[in-house]
Amino acid sequence: MADLNDPRTYWWRNAVVYQVYVRSFADSDGDGIGDLPGITSRLPHLADLGVDALWITPFYTSPQHDHGYDVADYRDVDPLFGTLSDADDLVARAHELGLKVVVDLVPNHTSDQHEWFQAALAAGPGSPERARYLFRDTPEGKPAGTPPNNWESVFGGPAWTQVDDGQWYLHLFDSTQPDLDWRNPEVPAMFEDVLRFWLDRGVDGFRVDVAHGLFKEASLRDQIVAEGGRASSGQVNTDHSMVSRDLKDEPMWDQPEVHEVYRAWHRVLDEAGPDRMAVAEAWTQTPESMAAFVRPDELDQAFNFAWLLTDWSAEAFATVITDTLAAVEPVGASPTWVLSNHDVVRHVTRYGGGARGLARGRAATLAMLALPGSSYLYQGEELGLEQVDVAPEDRQDPSYLRTGEVGRDGCRVPIPWGGSEAPYAFGPGEGQPWIPQPEDWASLTVDAQTGAEGSTLEFYRAALAARRDFAWTAGEDVEMLDLGADVLAFRRGHITVVLNCGEAPVPLPAGDLLLASAPVDGGELPGDTAAWLR
Ligand code: NOJ
Ligand code: MG
Repeated sequence: MADLNDPRTYWWRNAVVYQVYVRSFADSDGDGIGDLPGITSRLPHLADLGVDALWITPFYTSPQHDHGYDVADYRDVDPLFGTLSDADDLVARAHELGLKVVVDLVPNHTSDQHEWFQAALAAGPGSPERARYLFRDTPEGKPAGTPPNNWESVFGGPAWTQVDDGQWYLHLFDSTQPDLDWRNPEVPAMFEDVLRFWLDRGVDGFRVDVAHGLFKEASLRDQIVAEGGRASSGQVNTDHSMVSRDLKDEPMWDQPEVHEVYRAWHRVLDEAGPDRMAVAEAWTQTPESMAAFVRPDELDQAFNFAWLLTDWSAEAFATVITDTLAAVEPVGASPTWVLSNHDVVRHVTRYGGGARGLARGRAATLAMLALPGSSYLYQGEELGLEQVDVAPEDRQDPSYLRTGEVGRDGCRVPIPWGGSEAPYAFGPGEGQPWIPQPEDWASLTVDAQTGAEGSTLEFYRAALAARRDFAWTAGEDVEMLDLGADVLAFRRGHITVVLNCGEAPVPLPAGDLLLASAPVDGGELPGDTAAWLR
């Protein structure tokens, strides 16, 4: 029987995984865009921070219409980011530093520049080339210009684009990201090869983009839309509000056939060794449907967006914890927690911004890091970065270009490493990188925060160091404690966690104070603060 508690094999089950958004982490060549050698040069920062792994967003050949989530060649590196040999160097250096490497896999759609899509356009209606995608005609009896159904793109506007010969192709995202037809056996075969390609290069895992997509209801019927609603599925928040999780009719998402794909991938990963993993980005509608992706013979983990979508409320946090643990327990998967990523408004800003948003962000992080399972961190949160208000002329997110609504650029601003003005040592270049950095970031750089008492960076380092002592030994049971309506409190092993979501200080329970998200004295925990006690 496998010992799931062995960190050497099942390292991801209690890992802290740091998300690197390639374009914005570190630039090696001065073009203002982050790249693979840039990441390699900054790996010591991740080792010092104390994370276990990094997940790198797509760096494959791509016209960059969705910043790499539009892949033209799954087996090569975009020249913007380096070469295959740079990727090998990155993996080797990370392993030397004891860091695992997770790469992004984008199986729901390709770029329109992928050779398959180019061949599909050239070959015309009814061809085997078109059958790798979802090409359809205008419905019979409908006026020309009527798309095959009422689905909308996650990025706004219709999910169908018409080509010169009159056929339409489906794209749940940008029109440059045509959806593949996963019922065509060539498609799963190609992706199994891609998995093997990267496993052979030594990567430790995959983050599966849009893992709940892939299959659409075969009829491609209209979506039933509630009155006043829109025929779309909220996935990416574009308006600084969080997406609604009311149950909806979703014939384009979370179809039962998708699980057969993950069973096959499980076998491919196993061939490479028991220590390779995959984590699903699956915006499913319930914790139970999320758990289906992490059954023992499927993927290993799924992002738990419920944690990120939760309002600042002790009761809401408690509900998410209880529901999440209850959902993954029957399938034996380890839970995951995440507060920010490259698709959502940074959590310091979501929690109100400024000193209060930062206090809450640190407190929520401390509570998260004590929970069983894995925490996924997003680059820059260890610096306390806020969402940036990117000027309209600098916005590049395809969702902004399609809808005119503020997109995701504000959480993708390049990381400030040092210095007192842009590019804050992001790279050797002068002046602003691909998205301009704010003028007031000098005090937030890695250099400025290193060794500075009370800095967010030193807080993260201390929390990750303390977590190491118990992450693998404190067990998976969480006992919720009642310390009042505004307080989230739980015990896990010998650690007691208290998060005060209210404004008034609350008395701390008995125990030695290990760490707090803000200064604590007199046995009371201030509002918007969390503490670990032993
Ligand atoms: C989810 C990714 O996180 C997001 O950035 C991307 O735009 C969509 N999937 C489409 O690939
Ligand atoms: Mg560069």
